[in-house]
Amino acid sequence: MIIWLDGELTPIEAARISPLDRGLTVGDGVFETLRVYAGHPFAWTRHDARLRISARGLGLSVIDAATLRAGVDAVLAANDLHDARLRITVTGGEGPPGSSRSGATPRVMIVGVEFKALPASTSVVIAPWTRNENSATAGLKTLSYAANVRALSYAESRGATEALFANTQGNLCEATGSNVFAVIDDVLVTPPASAGCLLGVTRGLVLELAAQLGIAHEQHDIPMSDIDTATEVFLSSTTREVQRVDHIDGAPSPSSTHFGDRLADAYAALVRQTLDP
Ligand SMILES: Cc1ncc(COP(=O)(O)O)c(C=O)c1O
Repeated sequence: MIIWLDGELTPIEAARISPLDRGLTVGDGVFETLRVYAGHPFAWTRHDARLRISARGLGLSVIDAATLRAGVDAVLAANDLHDARLRITVTGGEGPPGSSRSGATPRVMIVGVEFKALPASTSVVIAPWTRNENSATAGLKTLSYAANVRALSYAESRGATEALFANTQGNLCEATGSNVFAVIDDVLVTPPASAGCLLGVTRGLVLELAAQLGIAHEQHDIPMSDIDTATEVFLSSTTREVQRVDHIDGAPSPSSTHFGDRLADAYAALVRQTLDP
């Protein structure tokens, strides 16, 4: 595997990151996960913009977009990747082994792997932990994903592939690596940014597609208890695209209105139509 590290292509075995890199010691860094279709990164402009929003939120600088994009294209070409998952990681760079950043220089790495297809529907659990919508890093795609890792392993140990988080107000926030949509009273709803969720690129596209399809949709707080009244629940993310939820905490989740299926089809059509919506 060939990766891109600070402007150079290098075999992964030869890549070196300091044991004092702040991404490693304190989770100081940000990342993006992109899907590659037919050899092209999907929604590049939106992912690049969000990387910069996350970095600005942490006070990190990121190299210019043209250099970053050249790195992405170089990794895809060097590994002959066509249907792939691409990860851009920006770390805080080497610094003292504490929280103070002290002028460390950020490092940037790009890694691509073949994409493994995911099923059209999946089961989820409700995480027994909350997301803090008032956290300094709420809505940022930072490297501090240990809480997500813990919740995902909780889900996997129960035969599910995602865990849904409530926030401190008891409202739905997001899942460990995806946004959540529900259909309640025939309206497609998803939590707003103020609920503490990451503003997923896929979430944004799904909302735009819903508008194009004439599906009534709103962003508002969803009390966790309202999920029981939903006639449909689905996840959105770069890798899951639009994925129906068929079980929640082991109980079958109804899927009667099929907004999710229509949006999944519309999303697939969008990918065929344009690679940078
Ligand atoms: C916590 C979290 N929420 C939502 C998402 C979905 O975002 P996107 O659609 O940009 O992949 C992700 C993606 O990895 C995520 O990690």
